[in-house]
Amino acid sequence: FLQGGAALALGGGLGLTAMIATDKASHAAAKFTSMVKSHFSSDEKQTPYKDVTTYNNFYEFGTGKEDPARLAKEFQTRPWTIAVSGEVEKTVTLDIDDILKKYPMEERIYRLRCVEAWSMVVPWVGFPLASLIKDMNPTSKAKFVKFTTLHDPERMPGQKSTFFGSGVDWPYVEGLRMDEAMHPLTILAVGLYGEHLPNQNGAPIRLVVPWKYGFKSIKSIAAIEFTEKQPKTTWEIAAASEYGFYANVNPDVDHPRWSQARERRLGELRKRPTLMFNGYQEQVAGMYKGMDLR
Ligand code: MTE
Repeated sequence: FLQGGAALALGGGLGLTAMIATDKASHAAAKFTSMVKSHFSSDEKQTPYKDVTTYNNFYEFGTGKEDPARLAKEFQTRPWTIAVSGEVEKTVTLDIDDILKKYPMEERIYRLRCVEAWSMVVPWVGFPLASLIKDMNPTSKAKFVKFTTLHDPERMPGQKSTFFGSGVDWPYVEGLRMDEAMHPLTILAVGLYGEHLPNQNGAPIRLVVPWKYGFKSIKSIAAIEFTEKQPKTTWEIAAASEYGFYANVNPDVDHPRWSQARERRLGELRKRPTLMFNGYQEQVAGMYKGMDLR
């Protein structure tokens, strides 16, 4: 184990040091031994680890819910870099192990609401995307942030043209408006349940935007680009009438093929009502004032 992360003051001065294993051999089983708790965390019952890690959407490893856990088992996430480009002071390539050492880790227990009308509560380990963005010094022209998943059909079988399935254009692309990207709820997650991210959940690093449908939370990020124009995202390209760029959770706007008013929390029998902005209305509604949310 290597010592990573410095003591920090956050969330009312809760300073803790994150001990992070960063050597190549052991990272998969490594645990984050301490993380700062966050006042953004939900106190709802957490979805069991088994469900969080065996019921997944990660089309690069198949379209069945149980495919990613099986087909991503051997996925190698070292070495791993993130190319940062576009409207920034300097184009750079970041190494995942440097990121793990640099940013103090927090536990963020968030609801995740998939557009397919199921949901979970996941204890993520990560850090604010805003911290990384500030370090990149974006220019005044940077209005959006575009994220791209690794494109490597040899390592991600779902990207092979011969693979039965999704029909989406690879690589998977997502995007946020700059204020959404800088919002304190938006994190880059590198772990869950105190461990490094299992491959099927988007190892080694993914986005988590809790007030938006889950498809915005792009997995296994290999590139971040700051853009002046709104980027075209994977699901928008696939079906613009069904999946918009903003994709804020909204129980009043149905998907063209099903209702979004209720959701099935994994492990529960009865459906529960879906909350506006997935329950994060107080923190995020201000960003969408004057916008038609329908
Ligand atoms: N990211 C990539 N690269 N590929 C995907 O297929 N699926 C999205 C999102 N991120 C997806 C992705 C969808 S639809 C959801 S609901 C969440 O990941 C699921 O995250 P989880 O499997 O960790 O619960």
